[in-house]
Amino acid sequence: MRIWPGSLAGRTALLLLIGLILVQAAGLTIHALDRVELQTFIQTREIAGRGFMLWRNLAVLPSERRNAVLPDIELPAGLTASYDLQPAVHADMPPVTPEVARRFRLDGPPPPFGAARFRPREILVGGIPPAGFAMSMRFADGGWLNLRVEPPPPRPWHSENFLWAFIAMSCCAVALILWGVRRMIRPVAELAAAADTLGRNFNAPPLPEGGPTETATAARAFNTMASRIRRFVDDRTQMLAAIGHDLRTPITRLRLRAEFMEDDEQRRKMLNDLGEMEAMIDATLAFARDDAATEPSVAFDLAALCQTVLDEAVDAAPDRADVIVYNGPDRLRAQGRPAALKRALANLVSNALAYGGNARLRLEHEPHGACIRVEDSGPGIPQAELEQAFQPFRRLEGSRNRETGGTGLGLTIARNILRGHGGDVVLSNREEGGLQALVTLPGAT
Ligand SMILES: Nc1ncnc2c1ncn2[C@@H]1O[C@H](COP(=O)(O)OP(=O)(O)O)[C@@H](O)[C@H]1O
Ligand SMILES: [Mg+2]
Repeated sequence: MRIWPGSLAGRTALLLLIGLILVQAAGLTIHALDRVELQTFIQTREIAGRGFMLWRNLAVLPSERRNAVLPDIELPAGLTASYDLQPAVHADMPPVTPEVARRFRLDGPPPPFGAARFRPREILVGGIPPAGFAMSMRFADGGWLNLRVEPPPPRPWHSENFLWAFIAMSCCAVALILWGVRRMIRPVAELAAAADTLGRNFNAPPLPEGGPTETATAARAFNTMASRIRRFVDDRTQMLAAIGHDLRTPITRLRLRAEFMEDDEQRRKMLNDLGEMEAMIDATLAFARDDAATEPSVAFDLAALCQTVLDEAVDAAPDRADVIVYNGPDRLRAQGRPAALKRALANLVSNALAYGGNARLRLEHEPHGACIRVEDSGPGIPQAELEQAFQPFRRLEGSRNRETGGTGLGLTIARNILRGHGGDVVLSNREEGGLQALVTLPGAT
């Protein structure tokens, strides 16, 4: 079933080509049939007319000269003649087929031979399969003119040139179809590419709105949709930033009031909670600021970026330098927003260090991009909660204490950034124990 192509261009081209072949075949057949008919007509007339002339020419000659003259008379293809003492038509020849009889008018009256002395004394006719016949006509002074008619089969075309011209014409039509289809389908491919780009880069330039009406409409609809999505995301981000910002003032007031609380224990707890709230708001604001729009997409070295993330982790915790490991190539070109990606990877590495106690980052080049695994050998996460960990402010049981320091936004932010690049991050528990964060990032070369 490989014959039916998958692409729209392929299908359209195939349909048009089949149509072209059918039309050409029909045209060729009509032309050939017409030619065959015309050729048969001309052939018949020529053979009949020349045969008749031959008889007249010989009939006026004395019998001894007929044999001398005969070779000099030019005869059309399919007609041979001889002058003999006996008729060539004999009793065991098959009868002439009705078709041949009709074609050469053998069933009608004999042609006008002129004066009585020129008329054949006797006419014998016998068939020569498949489409010929023999005719013997006796002269008044004895002797026979033996004609043998075997018309060559008619050819459906006259010269080779016709065939070549036909082939050239078909090739031109095929080329035109392939070119035209590709040209007409191009906007569809462009639309698909634009939709793909929008998933990774919100600020991709709009599609050109030219071309045929349908493509222009589709492009316009796409551009409208893209700008609506952009506005929607912008609104949400601004709202998030505004809420985060406005919450700060009441928290500051609460902090002031807490300072005046009598009960030391209560005051300590309250200030703790307020500190936690502030941390969450800071994270929220950072998240809101992480507007994909602000950082441009550029080409960068992903391997160097991974190593920087690990180096910074070592700087933050020098005592753990020997459990922070990088496996991967020295260079890997990628396209994206490096600062955002660095943040996403740093979040994963800091989780591995905070909850697993060590971090190994493995970078691999895959057919469709890059694949990064951040692994630790800690307790991992219960299977049912692997996805929940990505929800904002979600901190799983056991890591609730502030000691590990997070606010529950790390994975949310990481996934947000990676999906903004057309990639993703998923968590899984390793067989050897510990957690693995698998990052996929398209577009690395
Ligand atoms: N490597 C890991 N090992 C075990 N648990 C993890 C790991 N990474 C993340 N988690 C769990 O997922 C939760 C959410 O992670 P994250 O979004 O980074 O928030 P945070 O680190 O600020 O708590 C963490 O609180 C922790 O319970
Ligand atoms: Mg974290």
